[in-house]
Amino acid sequence: MIKLESISFTYKNKVALDNVNVHIKEGEAVAIIGPNGSGKSTLLKLLNAIIFPNQGKYMFDGSEINQGALKDNKYLKLFHKKLGFVFQNSDTQLFCSTVFEEVAFGLVQMGLPEAEINKRVCDCLNLLNVDKLKEEHPYNLSGGEKKRVAIASVLAMNPETITLDEPMNGIDPKGKRFLRDLLIDLNKSGKTIICATHDFEYIEGIFNRAIVFSEDHKIIRDDSYENVLKDEEFLRKYNII
Ligand SMILES: Nc1ncnc2c1ncn2[C@@H]1O[C@H](COP(=O)(O)OP(=O)(O)OP(=O)(O)O)[C@@H](O)[C@H]1O
Ligand SMILES: [Mg+2]
Repeated sequence: MIKLESISFTYKNKVALDNVNVHIKEGEAVAIIGPNGSGKSTLLKLLNAIIFPNQGKYMFDGSEINQGALKDNKYLKLFHKKLGFVFQNSDTQLFCSTVFEEVAFGLVQMGLPEAEINKRVCDCLNLLNVDKLKEEHPYNLSGGEKKRVAIASVLAMNPETITLDEPMNGIDPKGKRFLRDLLIDLNKSGKTIICATHDFEYIEGIFNRAIVFSEDHKIIRDDSYENVLKDEEFLRKYNII
């Protein structure tokens, strides 16, 4: 479903991904692990077509994703319907004037009927326990509340693949346990989950695979999550624990 072939990406003169090869099948739950600055967020931005590779090829559901393909408005909408993204920094994601409008935004873009939009928004606000904030301006929320709203707005779209960048950041312990169970349930219901994380304490049981980046922006291991997590020597050597 997702295929990255020999992908490299450089911000101006700073390498962020160096010859990355990844193949992710439908229904997988993949953790993206690595030290600060290793390229995890860059990989997720690339998967979501926020940036495009300098070298290599990104294939999604059999189509190559590049600026040309996404100029087709119909395809762009379809792509964003299939693939959802929870950003590392919620402030880059939230731009509407109320929480309700924020969660409704993508659904309005999809052209869904108003009753369906209202139902989906209410369900997702309830699910993430932010229904009481629906009239608030997202800017005035706490960091954890913003994160919950960002997650609600992605889930409302019901994408087949959900990519998340450090979703546990700023969430309290109860919220983290809830989010862990939610990701497990979403994966069980058939969704593909791709998630960058440092938060090993709260993510047990979510992932079947780990892709590990090194400080020099290469993938150094692609293995079962269990194998990676029990290899303490490896994790210490590469500055992961
Ligand atoms: N907009 C940008 N402009 C220039 N350099 C950038 C930009 N975004 C990221 N970088 C650089 O690209 C490299 C990879 O960054 P990236 O954000 O992908 O790391 P990360 O693995 O997500 O780190 P973290 O664990 O801190 O979130 C880093 O060296 C970073 O400084
Ligand atoms: Mg990051």
